[in-house]
Amino acid sequence: MQNMQKGFCIFTLVLVSFLNIVCGLTDPGDAKVLNDFRNGIENPEVLKWPKGNDPCGPPQWQYVICSKGKVTQIQTKNLGLKGTLPGNFNKLDKLENVGLQNNFLHGTLPSFSGLSNLQFAYLGNNSFETMPSDFFNGLSSVRVLSLDNNPFNKSSGWSLPSAVGELSQLMNFSCSSCNIVGHIPDYFGELKSLSTLKLGYNRLSGEIPSAFNNSMLQVLWLNNQDGGGLSGSIDVIGSMVGLTSLWLHGNQFSGPLPDNIGTLTSLNDLNLNGNKFVGTIPPGLANMNLKMLNLNNNMFMGSIPYFKAASASFDYNSFCQPRPGDKCAPQVNALLDFLHDIGYPPILASEWTGNDPCKGRWRGISCSPDGKVTVINLQKLNLNGTLSPSLVYLDSLLEVYLGGNNLHGKIPANLSELKNLKLLDLTGNSFEPPIPNFSSSTKLIVNGNSKITGVGASSDSNGSSGGGGGDGDGDGSSTSSSGSFLGSPRSYPEDAKNHSGSKARLILLLTGSALAVVIGLFLVFLIVKRKKSNKKDAADVKFSSRDVYTHPTSGNRLGEGSSSLDNGNLACSAQVLREVTNNFAEENELGRGGFGAVYKGELVNGTQIAVKRMEAGVISSKALDEFEAEITVLSEVRHRHLVSLLGFAVEGNERLLVYEYMPEGALSRYLFKWKSLHLEPLSWRKRLIIALDVARGMEYLHSMAHQSFIHRDLKSANILLSDDFRAKVADFGLVKLAPDAERSLCTRLAGTFGYLAPEYAATGKITTKVDVFSYGVVLIELLTGLIALDDQRSEESRYLAEWFWKMKLDKQKLLAALDPVLAVKEDSYDSIFTIAELAAHCTTKDPNNRPEMGYAVNVLSLQVEKWYPGEEPVQDQSYKPPDLRDMLKLWQETDTKNFSLINEDSRGSIATKFTSTDAR
Ligand SMILES: *[C@@H]1O[C@H](CO)[C@@H](O)[C@H](O)[C@H]1NC(C)=O
Ligand SMILES: *[C@@H]1O[C@H](CO)[C@@H](O)[C@H](O)[C@H]1NC(C)=O
Ligand SMILES: *[C@@H]1O[C@H](CO)[C@@H](O)[C@H](O)[C@H]1NC(C)=O
Ligand SMILES: *[C@@H]1O[C@H](CO)[C@@H](O)[C@H](O)[C@H]1NC(C)=O
Ligand SMILES: *[C@@H]1O[C@H](CO)[C@@H](O)[C@H](O)[C@H]1NC(C)=O
Ligand SMILES: *[C@@H]1O[C@H](CO)[C@@H](O)[C@H](O)[C@H]1NC(C)=O
Ligand SMILES: *[C@@H]1O[C@H](CO)[C@@H](O)[C@H](O)[C@H]1NC(C)=O
Repeated sequence: MQNMQKGFCIFTLVLVSFLNIVCGLTDPGDAKVLNDFRNGIENPEVLKWPKGNDPCGPPQWQYVICSKGKVTQIQTKNLGLKGTLPGNFNKLDKLENVGLQNNFLHGTLPSFSGLSNLQFAYLGNNSFETMPSDFFNGLSSVRVLSLDNNPFNKSSGWSLPSAVGELSQLMNFSCSSCNIVGHIPDYFGELKSLSTLKLGYNRLSGEIPSAFNNSMLQVLWLNNQDGGGLSGSIDVIGSMVGLTSLWLHGNQFSGPLPDNIGTLTSLNDLNLNGNKFVGTIPPGLANMNLKMLNLNNNMFMGSIPYFKAASASFDYNSFCQPRPGDKCAPQVNALLDFLHDIGYPPILASEWTGNDPCKGRWRGISCSPDGKVTVINLQKLNLNGTLSPSLVYLDSLLEVYLGGNNLHGKIPANLSELKNLKLLDLTGNSFEPPIPNFSSSTKLIVNGNSKITGVGASSDSNGSSGGGGGDGDGDGSSTSSSGSFLGSPRSYPEDAKNHSGSKARLILLLTGSALAVVIGLFLVFLIVKRKKSNKKDAADVKFSSRDVYTHPTSGNRLGEGSSSLDNGNLACSAQVLREVTNNFAEENELGRGGFGAVYKGELVNGTQIAVKRMEAGVISSKALDEFEAEITVLSEVRHRHLVSLLGFAVEGNERLLVYEYMPEGALSRYLFKWKSLHLEPLSWRKRLIIALDVARGMEYLHSMAHQSFIHRDLKSANILLSDDFRAKVADFGLVKLAPDAERSLCTRLAGTFGYLAPEYAATGKITTKVDVFSYGVVLIELLTGLIALDDQRSEESRYLAEWFWKMKLDKQKLLAALDPVLAVKEDSYDSIFTIAELAAHCTTKDPNNRPEMGYAVNVLSLQVEKWYPGEEPVQDQSYKPPDLRDMLKLWQETDTKNFSLINEDSRGSIATKFTSTDAR
């Protein structure tokens, strides 16, 4: 029976082939299109198509499939085809499936209009430059359209035509990195068969349309939109129960997460990194069985729940506690309820972080010396919403100023229970009657609430409270002149005021531009990005001596291009490093620079590591030099205040370096970006100790037992902070062995402008004094909170060191230039002036007049001892970094199939479950 069938099939085949031969074979129109196709290709030889007009053969041309003399498929993916497609492509009217992806096709994409039999079209990873506006017309059978990574209409972008909404069979639509502009069309929510929509890395704006509420989409990727990005609330997601993968990272979505998000039981993968989400975590989200959950870089508040997700990350939010399960303090909960009822305005959600409103200097909150909230002053902030009765839990409240907002609803009666409340100023809102009965010791001001006082009313509005009315201008800017407990009506609590002055504006400007930086940089950990121009210039500078790396002990030469890495004791397996970083998962990325990216990894004992991975594309000989220099130097250099190299791996094109993980990232984040990253700015005490740590690290580097090294790229972005804000110097890619004390060494210019010593910038000569200069610049940054070089600053203050010198240590000018967040009190002046003097000394023009690092250590340790006794860092000379190879062995020995890693003791730790295969 089976044989008979087979025989019949063969017979049919033979018959069909025979008929083809007999009947004149390929449709002449199709043959012409294929010949035109070939003629447009610059390297047609890879197609191996014979000359002639008979693509359907026999023999049928390679990569072509025909049926009855008509071309039904062209499959030329991954062939490296260069060239253009013919304009008559849509004459292939029986075409069902076309796979042209991963080639170098460019030029105008021909219209596919009218290809009514086409079911699959894969055109991704080419270089098509224009998308014809009728491309999608009449593709009535199309099921998969995959167009990713093409520079369509690059300059102006293009918006999705309405014809796409008529593709009733469409299942997968994928056009990431396609230059799409405009809003997401409603029709994507209405196409019944659509299950996958990938539109990441475009220039989309606006909201997710509410029409998505009925959609059965499974995969929705809208991540990383350029130019502002998508915005608005994502409430509609709550009803998209088919979702399995939702990527919204790198946008401006806002508002709280929908409460019903927990009902999306099919969801595996939820990435919300880098948006402006607010509010507490909905309990349903914590209980979802997700594989991956990323909540980093938002403004989530409240306590962190225990997430059921296999991998959950939630760094850089406004949570009250760093660890899952820890509850917020009662005062914080009361203020969170207050925020909830006014919709978590970003201006507060970004700043009200941590678990102590008094210690964190929350905007608008003042406290008594014993840490109780006494004043809430949030006037004229456009707050929308109602007044929370939970304020009754803040039983030390004395004064509440909420004038000039858009608050509505009733004034909660509970607030009359606040025994100490002296003033409740609600001027200029939209509150409604009834007015609760406050005791006579509370003064209530409700002027300018038209529902209570009537339009334009300005008389005493509070009959029963006995406090008397306000002065009636109703604009919220004034309160009363009659209350005995009040000082000047305009003397707002000082914490509530913004810093003023051009400095503060400058910082805002800086943080503003920092915000614009790519999302990856939110997590900047090891920025090693040196100005490219810097390096280019360097090539032109002519110097006599060549760079030579000398192995500090053995005297080995690792000349340029050499790859003889003999530090076997640090070598480890790339495979294991892949595993501990979850195959370099996006959610583990800590930062990116010119070299590639740095990933966080977690070992089986909970130890966290940072893995620097060179991008395959940048493995130039220069990059390899830096890679080797880091290994060479760092395997010799071991110090508490220098980031330790724990290991490295070389495998094929893979170049990996493993370091200690520094949870708080770079000092620059805390100095220049704390606001946008929602960090608590560093106190003067912390800054002093950081300065001392760095000085000690540098001193060691300069005066090691047998050799002396020059870092060459010391800057705040290369100073990393541990969880207790102790500092370590990082990035030794440019380190040079110092010449004899007397001679200086000429090198290619490297480093970062703004930190470069003048003699080095001018002549390329380096001595250890080059680092001393950079260190001085870092000190000035610590003092002023300004970055070394900022093109946006006025000519005069563009170069921080130069500007600092012009002040000539004038004490008044100096005080005016201090970082305003320091709020320096008189008793710190002494240490401020001492450090300013040291900074000036270190940045002296003549290198011979700069001190040695040891001098800086002495000055700083005296200061720390004097002002913060007991803080003097422990100096344990026998510092030993953790042994990576032991840890990795442990990793390999453990069953890696499915186990949990719970790191109990480090800040921002996560309960992470790694699965080696894609279980579930
Ligand atoms: C494009 O190339 C990337 C990287 O090689 C690959 O991951 C992706 O699947 C390709 N996309 C398409 C549409 O073929
Ligand atoms: C893309 O650009 C071309 C040429 O400028 C234009 O004709 C075409 O309509 C654009 N495509 C879309 C979809 O707007
Ligand atoms: C459609 O998209 C889904 C999800 O990305 C994918 O698994 C599937 O392979 C795609 N189908 C086709 C035919 O490309
Ligand atoms: C979806 O949204 C539309 C328009 O906003 C509304 O009319 C419809 O009732 C909603 N449907 C569901 C299922 O929520
Ligand atoms: C209050 O609502 C208005 C109008 O919708 C909006 O412009 C304003 O930004 C909101 N205020 C806050 C603090 O969110
Ligand atoms: C405020 O009073 C109302 C009515 O008496 C009560 O239901 C509510 O629980 C109270 N809220 C607080 C925070 O005490
Ligand atoms: C305030 O107190 C008066 C007299 O004690 C009472 O008549 C009135 O109902 C109370 N108002 C409210 C809103 O509780």
